[in-house]
Amino acid sequence: MTQKKSNRSTKSSKSYEESITDPNILEEIIRVDHAGEFGATRIYDGQIAVFGKKSKIGKMIQHMADQEQKHIETFNHLLLEYRVRPTALLPLWNIMGYTLGALTALGGEKTAMACTVAVEKVIGEHYKKQSTLLKNDQKKLKSTIKKFEKEELEHHDIGIANDAKNAPGYFILSKVIELGCKTAIAVSKKI
Ligand SMILES: [Fe+2]
Ligand SMILES: [Fe+2]
Repeated sequence: MTQKKSNRSTKSSKSYEESITDPNILEEIIRVDHAGEFGATRIYDGQIAVFGKKSKIGKMIQHMADQEQKHIETFNHLLLEYRVRPTALLPLWNIMGYTLGALTALGGEKTAMACTVAVEKVIGEHYKKQSTLLKNDQKKLKSTIKKFEKEELEHHDIGIANDAKNAPGYFILSKVIELGCKTAIAVSKKI
């Protein structure tokens, strides 16, 4: 009887753990996603500044930038809703994002698309990981992140469809950008 009771209580505490998101992880998720979406808007701003909005590639980038704008607006609201402070590194991501966007655009259309592929690959994978960290108490946030993950992967595919892989030095360029994004993610969670 005692045995049965203790089994039951272990079971119920286990299901409690499975349904409640760790508050520290939740805070990091909101902070880092806000930082990432902010960085993404700045990258596309930098690329559009070089290509202009009226060129064929400019219109394609504008479409992705419009979606990033919705993503950042959502996370602006979520910061307030969850009372999470943004990363202190926003001024850095502001400059670095814009510079990365402008420099890759100056490298040509394929290089700009290679940047998109690298960034969106990391962000897409990052969102995918978060889906497993968010529990049943965060269903709404989970579905928002799932939607964004799908859109980031669409951006990645737009890059591939526009010859990103034929950019000069594609392999090195994408590895450097991927590493930069992963580093930015790691520090933006904490700082
Ligand atoms: Fe995004
Ligand atoms: Fe994106």
